[in-house]
Amino acid sequence: MFTEIKHLEMRGITKRFPGVLANDDVSIEVRAGEVLALLGENGAGKTTLMNILYGLYQPDSGEIRVNGRAVAINSPRDALGLGIGMVHQHFMLVPTLTVAENVALGMPSPKGPVLDLKAVSEKIKQISSAYGLAVNPEAYVWQLSVGEQQRVEIVKALYRGASLLVLDEPTAVLTPQEANEFIALLRNMAAQGRPIIFISHKLNEVMAVSDRVTVLRDGKVAASVKTMETSPRELARMMVGRELAPCVREGKCSSGKVVLELKDVWVSSDKGSPALRGVSLELREGEIVGIAGVSGNGQKELTEVISGLRKVTRGQILLNGKDITNSTPDQILNQGLGYIPEDRLHVGTIPSFTVWENLVLRDHHQPPYAKSIFLQNQAIRTASASLVSNYGVKTPGLDTPTGRLSGGNIQRLILAREITRCPVVLVAAYPIRGLDIGATEYVHTKLLEARENGMGVLFVSEDLEEILNLSDRVAVMYEGRMMKILPAEEADERALGLLMAGICEEAS
Ligand SMILES: Nc1ncnc2c1ncn2[C@@H]1O[C@H](COP(=O)(O)OP(=O)(O)OP(=O)(O)O)[C@@H](O)[C@H]1O
Ligand SMILES: [Mg+2]
Repeated sequence: MFTEIKHLEMRGITKRFPGVLANDDVSIEVRAGEVLALLGENGAGKTTLMNILYGLYQPDSGEIRVNGRAVAINSPRDALGLGIGMVHQHFMLVPTLTVAENVALGMPSPKGPVLDLKAVSEKIKQISSAYGLAVNPEAYVWQLSVGEQQRVEIVKALYRGASLLVLDEPTAVLTPQEANEFIALLRNMAAQGRPIIFISHKLNEVMAVSDRVTVLRDGKVAASVKTMETSPRELARMMVGRELAPCVREGKCSSGKVVLELKDVWVSSDKGSPALRGVSLELREGEIVGIAGVSGNGQKELTEVISGLRKVTRGQILLNGKDITNSTPDQILNQGLGYIPEDRLHVGTIPSFTVWENLVLRDHHQPPYAKSIFLQNQAIRTASASLVSNYGVKTPGLDTPTGRLSGGNIQRLILAREITRCPVVLVAAYPIRGLDIGATEYVHTKLLEARENGMGVLFVSEDLEEILNLSDRVAVMYEGRMMKILPAEEADERALGLLMAGICEEAS
């Protein structure tokens, strides 16, 4: 029924957007049973290349060959017809529909116009057990964690009969454990004869999963190498053109005043069960507290409740000494909170708004951006231009719709906006998720600078190395509770790993 792809080639692909040469004479190839990793800095052109393969964009020049034959791919339907499936960097699921409905959406139904959801659910269950992708077909998408939504996207592509799978940063949203399982899954699918194209910024994953690596830089192929013949260090150098060193916190823990305090906070999840069960926490000025834990243990709800996006059902939250329990998000932002949400595209920005509009989103009604009811265009443009350049946001211009920026650049934009508002407390959910290694270094420098400047920083991460490098204190969450809050000096990967699994070792 579907083409089995033994060999896929993209030759001499060039794609220009207004003001950007996103792909410049790019050639890649992948064979059945092989995992090709695409690597490159934010904005290097990876997603664009894959969108061309999936028929979402037409290249200005170049050709695509499947099993040696030149093909025209004018739409995702054409791509799927050829056996090319894609899981996007930003999910494309409809939140108000169930998993089964999302998977069946746009697919011809065996029973004609009547959608046979039972059959769809059955097939989903088969796929999920064949590949170890746990999903519940009856659950609504809005109830799912980001990691679960990711699995639904993969099931959806497989359901549609994809032979070749393109995965655009699939592990960016998975926990370390899930990511390891996922890599085993990819190897397994490749071993069964699928070609796979895998995009990731995590070099250790690229080393573990791929057979070959193509590195893009500024839209061009910088190198194509066999994974066995390279190293993470060399890959990093090929990507950014310089050596990188991890950022590590220096200096003593803060003994400044408490800027954020949670007292026995209880919160319900979307499913109605308690997501936070009596969380208490103090954050001081000039301090970084890292929240570790397997995702889905209340971290999302913790950041949401602090920023006012979720109701406190019991307990109290104080920001800079003021009670902000159940205040509105606006009131809380005005009290001095900076917030970098988990869902950058939809919660962090308004995709159809321009870059400058998103940059001033929080403060557009205040001086210097507004006088009485009039926006001060010149002031806004000057401020936006300097943010864009200081934070290295790659964009053709200030008037570009934000949804067109690459994933990493949207993240830089949010960071620029939130940090320069000089909040008292900055709450960041997975601040480096989806960032390339150069940008990661940059964000870490910015968070450490924020700490130096007396900001209290609370950040959530699944990356233990990041947590250990940045945090003054580490808090581990498990099933909606703080298992333990410990000084970074006492935290190591083993201790944190046990706490993350819900095991509390008493000091003897
Ligand atoms: N629809 C579009 N219109 C205009 N410019 C675009 C569009 N899509 C992508 N671009 C630009 O093309 C360049 C490459 O973007 P792309 O999304 O392919 O990067 P990427 O390598 O996937 O980056 P990331 O790692 O951040 O996801 C960027 O400068 C981006 O702003
Ligand atoms: Mg991308």
